[in-house]
Amino acid sequence: MKIYDRVQEATAFLQPYNTAGATIGVVLGSGLGNFVGEIEVAKEIPYEEIPHFPVSTVEGHGGKLIFGSIAGKPIIAMAGRFHFYEGYSAEEVVFPIRVMKFLGVQNLFISNAAGGVGAGFKVGDLMIITDHISFAAKNPLLGKNEERFGPRFADMSEPYRKDLIAKAKTIATQEGIKLQEGVYFGVTGPTFETRAEYKMIQLLGAHAVGMSTVQEVIAANHMKMDVFAMSVITDIGIRDEDDIITHDDVLKAAKEAEPKFTTIFRELIRTL
Ligand code: HPA
Repeated sequence: MKIYDRVQEATAFLQPYNTAGATIGVVLGSGLGNFVGEIEVAKEIPYEEIPHFPVSTVEGHGGKLIFGSIAGKPIIAMAGRFHFYEGYSAEEVVFPIRVMKFLGVQNLFISNAAGGVGAGFKVGDLMIITDHISFAAKNPLLGKNEERFGPRFADMSEPYRKDLIAKAKTIATQEGIKLQEGVYFGVTGPTFETRAEYKMIQLLGAHAVGMSTVQEVIAANHMKMDVFAMSVITDIGIRDEDDIITHDDVLKAAKEAEPKFTTIFRELIRTL
């Protein structure tokens, strides 16, 4: 079955749960699942129950799609996403984004955990993503183009909406939250970068590096969705020789930054 038809079948299955008519979608990154606690949940659907959704590689960690509201606005949230490094195809990684679009989502909020390489970045900082560099991340639009999603040569001149970025900055000032901003460097992972790679990433003009987001943002821009994305800086790439990064450190840092992150997303959603 064609990808377009699979997206339509998944959409048809989910549409009855979208009674509130959400136009806002949220993708929650590693360690940022507690945002879910802020959602007034109407319905949760495990991914494995949704037709054509990718099947989880880790049993019991399949993730779920949540229909609910936050700050009084109906949203659809993905608690758990599909990463390319887990062995999903680029097309599988972006499948839920396409389904959200056909469910009526126009504003897409994406979060992730990332390594910081920007000057002065600290663990626990939040970084608004202003642009990205897709580096060795397989483009999800490779292959025959599906015109019903978007054009062959998708425009990527404003992958992250400037108006949403400006609003987020205003909110951060009002709430007394320090925000970094910069370019996200998308890699496949699953290894963390070598010291030489972190240096290269900085030299190439990026401020943070991570293993998700880029493919989702490409698919969203293909479909003319309005994207806002933010990284939680969970480790610093350019650091002392004896300092190593572990996944536990990443999760811990993400947890600690979570209240700030939640405030920005919630208040930004409130303005829509
Ligand atoms: N590199 C790549 N991905 C990451 C990192 C990192 O340092 N931290 C969290 N995700």
